[in-house]
Amino acid sequence: MDLNLASKTAVVTGAGRGIGLATVRALTAEGVRVVGAARTITPELQETGAHTVSADLSTPEGVATLISGALDTLGGIDLLVNNVGGGDGLAPVGFLDSDDAHWTGILDLNLLSAVRATRAALPSLIERRGSIVNVSSISAREPTDGLVAYSAAKAALTSLGKALAREFGPQGVRVNTVSPGAVNTFIWASPDALGGAVAAQSGLDHATFFQRLPQDFGIATGRITEPEEVAALIVFLLSDAAGNLTGADHLIDGGALTAL
Ligand SMILES: NC(=O)c1ccc[n+]([C@@H]2O[C@H](COP(=O)([O-])OP(=O)(O)OC[C@H]3O[C@@H](n4cnc5c(N)ncnc54)[C@H](OP(=O)(O)O)[C@@H]3O)[C@@H](O)[C@H]2O)c1
Repeated sequence: MDLNLASKTAVVTGAGRGIGLATVRALTAEGVRVVGAARTITPELQETGAHTVSADLSTPEGVATLISGALDTLGGIDLLVNNVGGGDGLAPVGFLDSDDAHWTGILDLNLLSAVRATRAALPSLIERRGSIVNVSSISAREPTDGLVAYSAAKAALTSLGKALAREFGPQGVRVNTVSPGAVNTFIWASPDALGGAVAAQSGLDHATFFQRLPQDFGIATGRITEPEEVAALIVFLLSDAAGNLTGADHLIDGGALTAL
């Protein structure tokens, strides 16, 4: 299959590790010139040869710095991957304990980062008949207990993708959503992140929780998704091979969601 990506340019947010890093690796392997952004420019991101921007993408200024820098560095943007999300200290919390600061922080990172990056990059994406992938979550379709704000933000992000696909499809811009279930990244694999918090709530040590996760989350394949598998789907959707795919939400969850 010819992905026809070799002459393209891309911006990937949340690129320091996990799904973002795997996406940068997959795109650079296809010959794409990439700008990857996170607050921490990790050695692994540097090793990809991608251009890097250190910015807090939960802020308007951070996103503006990224997109203007990418336009200068790359000369234009063909592909945009709005991957950044989650949140520092993301942990299950009851709705009545979720104050405005909590909601604003989650919405800034998981929804408005994509809104802002897309708005800034769209003139170039329209000129180049480009493609966008937003990384949402199965929590958009089935809210995760204790992650009320995160689930709502991801539902809005999925809606955004559909709306943008309708508005800009006639100008040649495709917009797709990728919605992973549990992925083998820091969020679940580290005892210091969401996985650690959920384990503690369940009265399990993190190693036991992580080992039982596929079964406890009802993953039909019996295993967690690897970030490289999400990246492969993202790269396919960005490519000409997916030329008439737009406005769609693509689950990658090992069969965890059961609703049609
Ligand atoms: N892992 C899963 O199970 C899963 C499931 C469904 C959906 N997702 C979604 O997939 C996306 C990627 O998740 P992941 O698991 O790959 O996450 P991850 O391993 O935690 O990586 C997140 C990346 O984003 C960066 N980042 C976080 N906050 C940032 C900020 N304020 N400004 C700039 N960069 C920031 C992090 O670097 P710094 O902290 O150094 O900035 C890191 O490079 C997220 O949108 C997440 O919601 C993940």
